[in-house]
Amino acid sequence: MKTFNRYTTIIIILGFICTCTYGQSNDGKALFEKYSCQGCHTINKGRLVGPDLANIGDKRSETWLKEFIRSPQTMIQNGDSIAVSLYEEYNNVVMPANNLTSSEMEAILQYIKKESPENVSEKPDQKRQKQASTFTANNFTTGENLFTGQLRFFNKGPSCVTCHHISTQNRFAGGNLAVDLAGSFKKLNESGVKAVLRNPAFPVMKAAYKNKPLLDAEIHNLTAFLKKSSETEQAANTASFSISTKLIVLGLVGTALLLILISLIWRKRKKQGVHDKIFNRQLKTI
Ligand code: HEC
Ligand code: HEC
Repeated sequence: MKTFNRYTTIIIILGFICTCTYGQSNDGKALFEKYSCQGCHTINKGRLVGPDLANIGDKRSETWLKEFIRSPQTMIQNGDSIAVSLYEEYNNVVMPANNLTSSEMEAILQYIKKESPENVSEKPDQKRQKQASTFTANNFTTGENLFTGQLRFFNKGPSCVTCHHISTQNRFAGGNLAVDLAGSFKKLNESGVKAVLRNPAFPVMKAAYKNKPLLDAEIHNLTAFLKKSSETEQAANTASFSISTKLIVLGLVGTALLLILISLIWRKRKKQGVHDKIFNRQLKTI
């Protein structure tokens, strides 16, 4: 009985250790997904919203990485030179803070290391270039209709105008809850925009599309629309200028017409004035 107990205890302990280490080595990937890192980063597949993390351990110290991943904004605010220049390079996109336990942090860093190749043969930027796809006029218009909510998303997610506006597209008003998307395509590129839409990593947007993912075709159309919106930035500026000129001219013409109308009415009223009649009558009686 005693020996049996001892053996079972050993087996249980061994089993526990095994599941722990097994769980740990597996966890990294799950955690990388759970904390939406993959929404903004790839490991050796090129830049998305944020930098490619391949071999990041060779570029930065472990303490730096841990501090940065926990709270990028603190690092930027404290003026850490690497954090600040990264922030500027990535067009002031804010990476959200992550409340990771130290074992979760270890697991994620291990996972990044494991997925990193021995030698990065191809520059991530070159890879990104290859992915550029072509968009048809149909893509643009469908994208616009999806964006404005004239077309509903298949999975019933909210339309983008609920939170966003695009300053170059002044045909429709949009929300001011989130950033103006006019410059987003230039900032994030096709792969970045698609990554944001496939897997929104910004907390508010993520919550809005939870269990209501966008379809690939919808993502493609929306990306086409955002691309077009970024290209028409110049044109739209001149268009809005001429619109405001038109408005001023229309305003002046309108005011002039109104003044003429008022003076016409006034003259008529004066002609049929009561005083004249009384005055004439009184003249007759004299
Ligand atoms: C919303 C998008 C987003 C999410 C989610 C995100 N990041 Fe980032 N990450 C960025 C951006 C953008 C940068 C570039 C620096 C900046 O703009 O602040 C960055 C920078 C980094 C860096 C520094 C890279 C370098 O070259 O030194 C590391 C490391 C990193 N992220 C790891 C992670 C990990 C791990 C997670 C998940 C726990 C994560 N990120 C989640 C967007 C994101
Ligand atoms: C519930 C509100 C909400 C909805 C709906 C929403 N977003 Fe967002 N989106 C956000 C927030 C918040 C951010 C983070 C940036 C910020 O703080 O404004 C963001 C960021 C983005 C970015 C990155 C912007 C940049 O330049 O850094 C893109 C691109 C984007 N959204 C596109 C879309 C598209 C396309 C749709 C429609 C499918 C959509 N969003 C729907 C709230 C929303």
